[in-house]
Amino acid sequence: MTALLEMRGIVKCFGTLRANDGIDLDVQAGQILGLLGENGSGKSTLMKILFGMQRPDAGTIAFKGRELSDHSPRAAMAAGITMIHQHFMLIEAMTVVENVMLGWPEAGDILQTATMETRIREASQRFGLDLDPRARIASLPLGRRQRVEILKAILRETELLILDEPTSNLAPTEVADLLSILRRLKEEGKGIVFITHKLPEVLEVCDEVVVLRDGRVTGRAPVADVTRGQLAEMMVGRTISTTRAHQAPELGPVRLAARDLVSPGLEPLSFEIRGGEILGIAGVDGNGQIELVETLAGLRRMHGGSIHLDGQDITGASVARRVRAGMAYMPADRAATGLVRSMTVAENLMLRDSRKPPYSAHGVLQPGAGVAKAESLIASYDIRASGPSAIVSRLSGGNQQKIVVARELDRGPAVLIAHQAAWGLDPGATRFVLDRVIALRDAGAAVLYVSSELEEVMTISDRIAVMAGGGFAGVVPHDEADMRQIGLWMSGRAA
Ligand SMILES: Nc1ncnc2c1ncn2[C@@H]1O[C@H](COP(=O)(O)OP(=O)(O)OP(=O)(O)O)[C@@H](O)[C@H]1O
Ligand SMILES: [Mg+2]
Repeated sequence: MTALLEMRGIVKCFGTLRANDGIDLDVQAGQILGLLGENGSGKSTLMKILFGMQRPDAGTIAFKGRELSDHSPRAAMAAGITMIHQHFMLIEAMTVVENVMLGWPEAGDILQTATMETRIREASQRFGLDLDPRARIASLPLGRRQRVEILKAILRETELLILDEPTSNLAPTEVADLLSILRRLKEEGKGIVFITHKLPEVLEVCDEVVVLRDGRVTGRAPVADVTRGQLAEMMVGRTISTTRAHQAPELGPVRLAARDLVSPGLEPLSFEIRGGEILGIAGVDGNGQIELVETLAGLRRMHGGSIHLDGQDITGASVARRVRAGMAYMPADRAATGLVRSMTVAENLMLRDSRKPPYSAHGVLQPGAGVAKAESLIASYDIRASGPSAIVSRLSGGNQQKIVVARELDRGPAVLIAHQAAWGLDPGATRFVLDRVIALRDAGAAVLYVSSELEEVMTISDRIAVMAGGGFAGVVPHDEADMRQIGLWMSGRAA
């Protein structure tokens, strides 16, 4: 039996970096292949080559026995390959059916909207997409928008579907729905390449895994034969500790105090965090987390309440004043507020401190100082980039996130507000970041750690609060946490 896809000896260099260094990859019809690997190991690059977004320096691609070379994404789609990007290519003001018909080869007069609506309903039914053809994209949550992209692929009679970290932005129920849609696609004989850092998802849905490291295949195995620990080890070449960090020996005075915070989407909310303490916020995304962290960071207007940092009233303070008072902030949406992607690694690393020495002297920017500092952060945070002058948008997703983490932690803040700090990070890098946050706590900082990944919150927190409906459904010290009760709080029900 010939494979649906055969990639052989794929090489791709960026300057001296070999992002893909002789990769062979096969996908069969009716197979879900998990593509794993550390941040910067070459996964997205390999898939962009397959989809015709980048040219390989060497190697061949055969799809259904036919060679694909020098192809564009349009040619890849015509051949039966679709790649679903993290940022969806949908027009929000238009409906599902209008988006599907955009760029449809025989759209317009020949294919009537009504016919298309019927086809959408059928496909939606068959694959469990639960999509109304007349719904406006703007009214759909992220998980549904992603399904519109999958719908487009199905209607185009795609035979190979590439999904690059499709679950990063999804709520847990949306993830479960996506995985069951992938299973249906597989049953219908589609081939799927699924990139994710979340090992439980791999174990749940994939048939086979291929692991990349430094641009090469370092592991290949049927999923039935491997455990989660083995997968992690194949990725990073060592085992990753999952043990919990013990509470800091001594709690200091209250460093962050929020009293009766009110803003749109937030109920009156009060809490205190002491020096040497991590308050973890668990909960399904969209329950007030964004409102809370942005209010604390000074990005949202409050309607009532007060915020004190080390006793200083920062309720109405500007972002810059909060930073000067010792606050660090890692936003969930790094593309919007965490990074300037068109700038260099060094520039992004000094973004917050560019007016202070050593980056600036007598009002004049000192680029040399920034570069030296950047080099040391690149080394200590293992940021895979060609150097301080690399443009951030060219870095792999996880390595972009490491820049935000390095910048905010390195400032040695009194208070850290971290929102989805491990977003897109591989398991090793996630553990590294958790350990650095714990070290910051041990040095006496107060930390608010907000994440929709319950496991992360449980690993890192000294106290856990669960957000539901804009308020805390419950708060509990780590050692008294009962998973059943946390689950109930997360679902918005009282225990
Ligand atoms: N256009 C580009 N110019 C320069 N370097 C690039 C470019 N695209 C990718 N790279 C580099 O190639 C390497 C592989 O990147 P790639 O995006 O394929 O990694 P990845 O495995 O998808 O990582 P992640 O898990 O973080 O998304 C990285 O070191 C990255 O910086
Ligand atoms: Mg990637």
